[in-house]
Amino acid sequence: MDKAGKLSKITISLHWITGIVIMALCAVGLYMTRAEAWALYPVHKSVGVLVLFVALLRVFWRIKNGWPAAAADYTQLEQRLAKIIKWVLIIATLALPMTGMLFSGASGHGFGIFGLVIVPAQHMPGNPDQVLAYSEFWAEAGEALHQATAYILIAAIILHLAGAFKHHFIDKDATLKRMLGK
Ligand code: HEM
Repeated sequence: MDKAGKLSKITISLHWITGIVIMALCAVGLYMTRAEAWALYPVHKSVGVLVLFVALLRVFWRIKNGWPAAAADYTQLEQRLAKIIKWVLIIATLALPMTGMLFSGASGHGFGIFGLVIVPAQHMPGNPDQVLAYSEFWAEAGEALHQATAYILIAAIILHLAGAFKHHFIDKDATLKRMLGK
């Protein structure tokens, strides 16, 4: 269990696994869509589906363990901001894999985990290079939501990193060290 001065190994591991993998997925997602790097799509989807399990585990751990107490005395405004960003991060880490699956599934492209098919692609009869959407509506909704949530998540990550660096370099408190297990 977490204590004010020391976080548990489970909290620290879940934080860094989700944080690093999600930042990598954002970078790959932004790159692959702009560079049309089709080979990266199945990797992005597979890792994205896997990260949903870790994100869910994190939510259960938060419910069981509660939020760790602040490492120092912060202003009310700072505490409120940090809480809002933490909630945005938690919701977005669940919403991104879900909207990604909705888009990929409904659009007929399909997805799975490294070759293990979860929703199969639906190829056009007579033109197997093209796919046929299972639902145009849900494909468009999934794509728009995945993109919008991704940008919200990226903004929240930047604010979260800015907060962590402010605590470490300006306030010189133990917030970042505690998350590094020190
Ligand atoms: C936490 C997990 C995930 C993150 C952080 C993430 C992030 C991103 C980002 C930043 C983009 C680029 C958005 C843009 O500028 O258009 C993107 C695109 C995409 N993602 Fe994800 N993603 C995640 C999970 C998934 C999953 C699970 C799937 C499917 C199973 C998926 C499928 C896609 C697809 C197909 C695109 C391209 C969209 C397009 O062509 O418009 N993503 N993702």
